Amino acid sequence: MSGNADGVLPSEPVRSPFAHGALLLCSLRDDLDQPGVIDFLTGLSKLVGQVTAEIDGHTLASIVVGLTPSFFSVGGTPRFGLAAGQTPLEFASLPSLPPGCSAIPGDVVIYIVTTAEAVLAQFLLGLAPLKGSLKQVQLERGFQRANRRELGGFLDGLRNANKDRQKVVFLDRDGDQPDEPVWTQGGTYGAYLKIGQHFDQWSTLTTAQQEAAIGRRKDDGSRLDVAAGTPIDQEGPFASHDQCPASAHISKAGPRGDLHDQTEIFRRGLPFVELQADGSTQSGLQFVSFQRSLGAFDTIFSRWMTNPAFENPGTGPDALLAAQGLQFQHGCFFFVPSHDDRYIAAGVFDPPVEPCRKVGHIVVRKRVEDANAQPVLAELGGFGFQVFKDNNPITAEFFTDSQGRARSPEVPMDVALELREVHPLANFTPAPNQAVTLDCPYIVVQMINKVTQPVPGYGG
Ligand code: HEM
Repeated sequence: MSGNADGVLPSEPVRSPFAHGALLLCSLRDDLDQPGVIDFLTGLSKLVGQVTAEIDGHTLASIVVGLTPSFFSVGGTPRFGLAAGQTPLEFASLPSLPPGCSAIPGDVVIYIVTTAEAVLAQFLLGLAPLKGSLKQVQLERGFQRANRRELGGFLDGLRNANKDRQKVVFLDRDGDQPDEPVWTQGGTYGAYLKIGQHFDQWSTLTTAQQEAAIGRRKDDGSRLDVAAGTPIDQEGPFASHDQCPASAHISKAGPRGDLHDQTEIFRRGLPFVELQADGSTQSGLQFVSFQRSLGAFDTIFSRWMTNPAFENPGTGPDALLAAQGLQFQHGCFFFVPSHDDRYIAAGVFDPPVEPCRKVGHIVVRKRVEDANAQPVLAELGGFGFQVFKDNNPITAEFFTDSQGRARSPEVPMDVALELREVHPLANFTPAPNQAVTLDCPYIVVQMINKVTQPVPGYGG
């Protein structure tokens, strides 16, 4: 039996203010073969089952197990006899990490949140019989915010994919990701970043200056441009950026509006404080987010937050970066498979079988490029398409989101169709019409526009 990925949505231990957590980055032995890795995953599943089992009606631990790109292949060579088509699609082109942020090694990521140190100890002891499969393990620690505030003193986790969280988090091949391997259904992509926070400058700022960097009031977390105490779900779009600056963290990471609201991630990180040998401390955030597509993380992080030209030229990068001296230390991306009664990630080893259908969907991936065919950081949302048969439209218009993705309504298979960009945006050449015949339940079509003149926002 399968279901959505385990441990990802908050459960009793994750919600507890007394919880703490550990991230284990496990590198598997280079010579491990398919039976060897299946033994490892089977042993790990038993251990996860023991540690997360209810005791007197309470769950003391939540565990997420993810697989990184190096689980599937190293240097282009597939591992464990896996077919190339079994790798999560977005591992082929990962979001870039900021300069100075290294890729942390590891093939399997284990993210544990627990309310009892004894349970973490039980888990670490239980790993011992599996250590023959491991080359190296790196441990990172963090703790749940006892007062729901990040280390700079602001309430965190307020606007966090609160509506439709399942849709934000879990991959659905019946949506705009039909080209992902069958086994990824119900799984989720994970992003991990260890971010140092340096408060030397922060502590010299006034409360008003700190609030301008975040975009929310320090006491109740309400947005600066709405009345104090306004609940998150009643904030509405930004009328202007007079009170909540365009460079504030929430303006850059959550720009609002029907189009941008479609791009969301679910943040589930933990702060950390590490004691150094000289008695000083290093602190920050073990940032973890789950999303059905790494495109959502990439859009928020690279196209919006760190891009100085978003939402308009001159906006500057996210003000939080400088105000809290954020330093991106290391990170990785991973995929959390859906629940499987056999053992964790069993589906990865199943032969791919596509269901037989008579109708399908055309999935659009938008790319905007300059005269030298280089990608341009421009808004990818709002391009409209329609499918035609014998020059007659057979679908309603459908539009891309800010990640440049769109999915047509159902169209017949095995017939000659034409995909037309019926709603191009100003400043771009329209994408040429594309002849399309579906011989499987979906086809992915890249529609490319050339920029004709600089576009507002994104520095395009
Ligand atoms: C140490 C680093 C960071 C700190 C201290 C921090 C803190 C905060 C705080 C206080 C909020 C406002 C409260 C809330 O809505 O939860 C917030 C919102 C948010 N943060 Fe961060 N954050 C950090 C890094 C990041 C990173 C790296 C990303 C994305 C890759 C990110 C994405 C977001 C998003 C999407 C929101 C919601 C914005 C909205 O829709 O209003 N944050 N963060």
